[in-house]
Amino acid sequence: MDHFELKNGVMHAEDVSMPRIAEEVGTPVYVYSRATLERHARVFREALGDVPDKLIAFAVKSNPNLAVLRVLSQQGYGADVVSGGEMRRALAAGMAPGDIVFSGVGKTRVELSDALDAGIGQFNIESEEEGAELAELATDKGIRAACALRVNPDVDAGTHDKISTGKADNKFGVPIRDAAPIFGRLAGLAGLNMRGVAVHIGSQLGDLAPLEAAFGKLAALVRELRDAGHTITHVDLGGGLGVPYMRGEKPPAPAEYGAMVARVTKGWDVKLIFEPGRVIAGNAGVLLTRVVRVKRGINDPFVIVDAAMNDLARPALYGAYHDFAAVEPGGDAMRANIVGPICETGDTFAMGRECDLLAAGDLAVFRTAGAYGATMASSYNSRGFVPEVLVDGDRYAVVADRIEAGAIMDAERVPQWLL
Ligand code: LLP
Repeated sequence: MDHFELKNGVMHAEDVSMPRIAEEVGTPVYVYSRATLERHARVFREALGDVPDKLIAFAVKSNPNLAVLRVLSQQGYGADVVSGGEMRRALAAGMAPGDIVFSGVGKTRVELSDALDAGIGQFNIESEEEGAELAELATDKGIRAACALRVNPDVDAGTHDKISTGKADNKFGVPIRDAAPIFGRLAGLAGLNMRGVAVHIGSQLGDLAPLEAAFGKLAALVRELRDAGHTITHVDLGGGLGVPYMRGEKPPAPAEYGAMVARVTKGWDVKLIFEPGRVIAGNAGVLLTRVVRVKRGINDPFVIVDAAMNDLARPALYGAYHDFAAVEPGGDAMRANIVGPICETGDTFAMGRECDLLAAGDLAVFRTAGAYGATMASSYNSRGFVPEVLVDGDRYAVVADRIEAGAIMDAERVPQWLL
């Protein structure tokens, strides 16, 4: 459930009308709802009520906006970060360093060193090479880095290939069959406190079975490591829970996920770490856009909106479906191709979509844009970056300014020898 609803025929975010935001901030603009973020954070936490010891670390990559992170920090969430930039955001939003988990296959020396200095809670090591480098840095600083070894369980998550991470030929983690000896070698390094294991098999999962299979493999690994004399106190189960993008779509509910986790991890006697992203932020945001014009097509008309693939990349990148609805629907429908202004055919949000009847100047929203929306934007076609707004009841704030194309151009220069 979210808080983007029609009130007197006009779509609102909580108690703020979309036309008001469009008028005052301009379009396109991302609009987030604080109440929805808080609701999702609470539902996910309550779903894990039967897990005694846990850290919920919001996957910052899904929505790194500082105000969004602040809302989640106030909900007691930590952060899963994958770069120095994300780490700085989590810290700036008030997340405790100890509640930050650092994942990612390509952490640089500088990032590792900065994260050690910041005192982050856990490094999810993705290779033996990375572990050795971290050990060296930590030893130099006279500290021990708390680490989990991320394993690749070789399960098919059954999601889009580009967002699957747990198949043997994906770049993430170490192959589970090699995990015990690698863990043993890393545990022998003075700079590392090898205390756990981690897994993340993919995103937008519509079925719990692959997750359960991965967790089962992890349980066997934990037993093997303990039998070998290692002390395992932490297990990171990653993120991945899917959300409904289409009306009527029914991915597993957080409660079903929580029940499965509680059942599978019973008796593990560890602190469990979760890294949800999309399930918290996805349906807490929309991209508000205005129709530039409607152009006749061979079959269906083209509804050309002022948002484009540079603002919301998911349809172009993954063929993803985003619900599209008028802000002031008149009750009539049309079949349309919904496209942006960018000069490639990939800039298509939907072909032959049944949607509300729209004309030039009308406002509409792409739903489920709160995760992997603004954060994946680019300035392709010399378009600027879309602003972000956070609504709270009957008030709202611009939580990220629009970055005009001119400001991006200002960071470029023509060298003297070309003048
Ligand atoms: N933990 C790790 C290590 C991850 O790599 C990810 C997502 C998450 C947690 C959060 O997963 P979530 O709960 O959001 O499914 N850009 C793509 C999604 C990429 C996901 C990458 N990793 C999209 O727009 O669908």
